[in-house]
Amino acid sequence: MSKLKAASQYGYYAKWFMLSKVGRKNPLVNTMLINYDCNLRCKHCSVHENVDKLPGPRIIPYDMAVREMERKFKEGARVAFFEGGEPTLWKDGDKDLSSLIEAAKRIGYFVTGYTTNGTNVIFEQSDVISVSLDGPREVHDRIRGPGVFDKLMANLAMTEHQNIFANMVVMQENKEALKGTLEAVQASGRINGLMINFLTPPPRSQALSLEEKRKVVEEAMALKRQGYPVLNTNSALKELLIEDYEKKCPAWASAFVLPGPTYFYGCPMRGTEACKQCGFDAVREYSLIVRGNPFAISQMSGRFALSGKRKKV
Ligand SMILES: C[S@@+](CC[C@H](N)C(=O)[O-])C[C@H]1O[C@@H](n2cnc3c(N)ncnc32)[C@H](O)[C@@H]1O
Repeated sequence: MSKLKAASQYGYYAKWFMLSKVGRKNPLVNTMLINYDCNLRCKHCSVHENVDKLPGPRIIPYDMAVREMERKFKEGARVAFFEGGEPTLWKDGDKDLSSLIEAAKRIGYFVTGYTTNGTNVIFEQSDVISVSLDGPREVHDRIRGPGVFDKLMANLAMTEHQNIFANMVVMQENKEALKGTLEAVQASGRINGLMINFLTPPPRSQALSLEEKRKVVEEAMALKRQGYPVLNTNSALKELLIEDYEKKCPAWASAFVLPGPTYFYGCPMRGTEACKQCGFDAVREYSLIVRGNPFAISQMSGRFALSGKRKKV
């Protein structure tokens, strides 16, 4: 990416930040939940838990997804993140996830990303790829199903993508497995680091108590000091211990499109019990960014804000 293009993208973000300070609170991220279908049945999955209660169709058609991306772009969004279900399974006729990534780029989004269980195709076109990793082999497979860890690692071994990170949800099942998960990240040779989240209930049975979360946060900070690749900022790790984050959540910073299309600003969980127990680290990082925290700004923008970090140059 040229220095000029990077400067113009940073300039856009700076303008967005300044405008937010004078009350112009526009979304910067557009989270597109493109389908509810998935090939796995993970023990903690909130989508799987809620899918029967969710409104409308199970998949967003291509034309509608493009219209929604255009609309959110006009409102200010420059980062398009595809979620599911399992977004790599999304299809509409001859279109697949790569078609949505290409459409986002055509519209003008700076950055595209998606979260995947990593068992299907890796879509190299995306600027950022988030793979779910909930533990070393035995723990990951206990949560996600037999053979899932090896399939993920085999798929990762076939890609040269340079901007892959892992997303871990810490719950009862894996609360002792933080170090082992970080070692699996290092052993993969492909994943740059681990973003640690807490489970957002349901299911309540898997949620950690505040004391258990405190232990995990302390361990994460100690491991980070020892050089393990924890991507959360220390400030965000500490804010993961503020359990009711509803008032601090900068919901306006992300638009959220569901297959309906029903769209929200922030999150479909807003105002619910689940919102009050949100364990999502990105919400803390967004909040720190809009409050001007320099560590969150430099760490997150370096990894997630600029186009074209996907190949070795
Ligand atoms: C819903 S999944 C969709 C993408 C893909 N199927 C996958 O497994 O990565 C997106 C992320 O949300 C996480 N997740 C699912 N249920 C959750 C819950 N109850 N609390 C917190 N995170 C959750 C998953 O572990 C995954 O990293």
